[in-house]
Amino acid sequence: MELRVEPCSELDLERLLSQDLVPHVAAHHRERFALQGAGAATYLLAWRGHQNVGRATIYNESKYRPVRVTYPATAEINALEAYPQRQGIGTALIAAAESRAAHRRFPSIGLAVEPSNPDARRLYERLGYVLWGRGRVVDEWVEPRDDGDLVHRDPCDYLIKSLS
Ligand SMILES: CC(C)(COP(=O)(O)OP(=O)(O)OC[C@H]1O[C@@H](n2cnc3c(N)ncnc32)[C@H](O)[C@@H]1OP(=O)(O)O)[C@@H](O)C(=O)NCCC(=O)NCCS
Repeated sequence: MELRVEPCSELDLERLLSQDLVPHVAAHHRERFALQGAGAATYLLAWRGHQNVGRATIYNESKYRPVRVTYPATAEINALEAYPQRQGIGTALIAAAESRAAHRRFPSIGLAVEPSNPDARRLYERLGYVLWGRGRVVDEWVEPRDDGDLVHRDPCDYLIKSLS
């Protein structure tokens, strides 16, 4: 079945939330849709028919301060995920992110990848992403848990691709 990648609409969000989702996934959809509503990001969803098969957020600026200082105008792919994997969904989401960012005249697009994720990194490098050359960034994110939020601080490699 044909793969479609589109920004999340209000109807998409309703459709997603009407499913039996684990709470952190429902919270992710809500949070990313709200960011899109606030003009800070685009929340891209991949679909096969009515089945959601992937997601990615494109931030309008890097979430990492050192990257913002050097590349104030870069777009950034965040929380890329394909389900199932290895069927071209990640590649399609990245292509859609790049084409939207280029259309909006962002000169470059970046992303952070954990050193423990060589498969994802290989994909990014094959698609033309290169190390930005100024060391690792620290990805700070919160994992909601029954016994209280857990804050993660993961060092990541930062890769960037010129869109010009
Ligand atoms: C990383 C991730 C988003 C990539 O998405 P994906 O849909 O699996 O990626 P693709 O299918 O486009 O490409 C992955 C590989 O599968 C191969 N592939 C693509 N279509 C294929 C197919 N039909 N059959 C077999 N292999 C295929 C690609 O050539 C690529 O090969 P490579 O490993 O040599 O680079 C996905 O694996 C994922 O969700 N991982 C878990 C979350 C994660 O790590 N996110 C990234 C955080 S930085």
